[in-house]
Amino acid sequence: MSNQTNKLFRLAARPVGMAKRSDFTYEEVPVAQPNDGELLVKIQYISLDPAMRGWMNAGKSYIPPVEIGAIMRAGTVGEVVASRHPQFQVGDFVSGTQGVQSYAISNGKGLVKVDPKFAPLPKYLNALGMPGITAYFGLLEVGLPKAGETVVISAASGAVGQVAGQIAKIKGCRAIGIAGGAEKCDYAVKELGYDACIDYKRGPIFPGLAQNCPEGVDIYFDNVGGDILDAVLTRLRMKARVIICGAISQYNNTTPIVGPKNYMSLLVNRARMEGMVVFDWAPRYGEAVRQLSQWMAEGRLKSREDIVEGIETFPETLLKLFSGENFGKLVLKV
Ligand SMILES: NC(=O)c1ccc[n+]([C@@H]2O[C@H](COP(=O)([O-])OP(=O)(O)OC[C@H]3O[C@@H](n4cnc5c(N)ncnc54)[C@H](OP(=O)(O)O)[C@@H]3O)[C@@H](O)[C@H]2O)c1
Repeated sequence: MSNQTNKLFRLAARPVGMAKRSDFTYEEVPVAQPNDGELLVKIQYISLDPAMRGWMNAGKSYIPPVEIGAIMRAGTVGEVVASRHPQFQVGDFVSGTQGVQSYAISNGKGLVKVDPKFAPLPKYLNALGMPGITAYFGLLEVGLPKAGETVVISAASGAVGQVAGQIAKIKGCRAIGIAGGAEKCDYAVKELGYDACIDYKRGPIFPGLAQNCPEGVDIYFDNVGGDILDAVLTRLRMKARVIICGAISQYNNTTPIVGPKNYMSLLVNRARMEGMVVFDWAPRYGEAVRQLSQWMAEGRLKSREDIVEGIETFPETLLKLFSGENFGKLVLKV
């Protein structure tokens, strides 16, 4: 093991606009060995998430920023290859937040054992991991869906969106997706079971919203913010709930974010808009994963991953999220 190399990316500068390769340093260093109470994980898959862009910024957020010089924060899944920790054995598979690197030492805190026989490892970064849990609590506990209601979901074919859409259907709602391109929309309807999907890249989404939500929108699960949020606000129904899960259209702004223009619709329709951060449900992650796993085992929950090979490609691969080039949960295979 001592001859092994750990490949890793550190944050070198706070990006302005889109992150670029020079905002990171790439290093190859010898793999460290675990001390008493520690274990060594060979990371196999790294989760690439839109939130990573926000973590690179200085300033107060829901989580401290990644420090300059620190290994870039990222969700991971991998195999225990050495252990001096009583609760982890060589051959265990674990998910955690071990960063953009190919090996990581851990004291076990924050690691969760996963079973590659139940589902392929990348699914633990997707429907059975953070994005799935976000969709689960966001829709069920912030959105409070009731059977028969109309739920609109943006970035509908993405990691969070694909799970949110399927849960909406499981709960007896009508699910209307918004996604970029015919291929993603087809996938949302034919594979994920959305009732319809509006391709926002074809033109304004107002006609599609009017056609597919004739009585208005009860729940909007917003992953993108910007003009799409504004458009959906014009279609809210009385007592609608708008879940602010993300605003990916704004993450690379170099000018201040412009808030929603049509927010008076909240007043007119006695509606509510509420932000959510998945970390708030950390004590209940197990509950969500058990339910998501059961739905997956029953064939009621599908998920798609977009796997790119080579940790060395990290800075460029991350950008796929912001151009919509990813199709499904973006995962880096080490
Ligand atoms: N609050 C939380 O706790 C939490 C947790 C996880 C994720 N999130 C948020 O949830 C959202 C989705 O994350 P994800 O991991 O599931 O990513 P994802 O949907 O798998 O990938 C991002 C997608 O966003 C869409 N997109 C990118 N730029 C856009 C733009 N300018 N306008 C409209 N759509 C754009 C693209 O899809 P199209 O090709 O369809 O446009 C792209 O594929 C993000 O905003 C993320 O920050 C929040």
